[in-house]
Amino acid sequence: MKIVASNFKTNHTRLSTAGFVSKVDGFVKENSIKNPIFIFPSFLSIDNFDVSSNISIGVQNGYPVDNGSYTGEVGTDALDEFGIKTILIGHSERRHILKESNDLIVKKYDFFKSNNYKIIYCIGEPLEVKTAGLEAVIEYLFSQLDGIDLSYENLIIAYEPVWAIGTGKVATIEDINEIHTILKTKINTPILYGGSVKVDNLEQILNIKSVDGVLVGSGSWKIEDFCQMTLIASNIKN
Ligand code: 13P
Repeated sequence: MKIVASNFKTNHTRLSTAGFVSKVDGFVKENSIKNPIFIFPSFLSIDNFDVSSNISIGVQNGYPVDNGSYTGEVGTDALDEFGIKTILIGHSERRHILKESNDLIVKKYDFFKSNNYKIIYCIGEPLEVKTAGLEAVIEYLFSQLDGIDLSYENLIIAYEPVWAIGTGKVATIEDINEIHTILKTKINTPILYGGSVKVDNLEQILNIKSVDGVLVGSGSWKIEDFCQMTLIASNIKN
């Protein structure tokens, strides 16, 4: 079954997140949707949500400690109180805007893996690498997997080309399939596509056999759109 994940990024408040989660939960139940669904709200909006078993609430980031003196960061003790066991690691906005290094990303990966978190690990090439051609793209993507234990059973990879994030420029169906197929020669875990996924292009993207699901930003922030996305995913058979 195809996976549908919503990354809220820096959007929605505590109040609107609670409404979103509860509406999606109701919709999923009403329509007997069984696909794995993930929602990644901002830290301030995390709560003990009462949701169906196929909806997981995760965090967009975390610091690789239980607790300690790391001003502004969040460790697992705080996440445990909300039963959070799912995390995004390596998102391009953290790599490029927040300047997170590969070393820190690997540290986070190892730490959250040792705590049995489900990890959605993001990779993706910037425009200048894409322009350099397929070989450069593959080399770049595999370099982002260096030091990452790909045999971890709770790992999901998200392929999100940086040039397609928030730009409205979606990779072509052929491009997505080509990259995912090459990644799958090395990776046994599910691989999601992310980058300007919308209600209108979702079906076509989910119909690609090598795509196991989607990680959606802006296209998922309206409740009706995200509900629609879960319904579209539930009707995909391959
Ligand atoms: P957009 O869907 O807004 O392009 O963002 C994708 C993304 O970064 C999801 O993590």
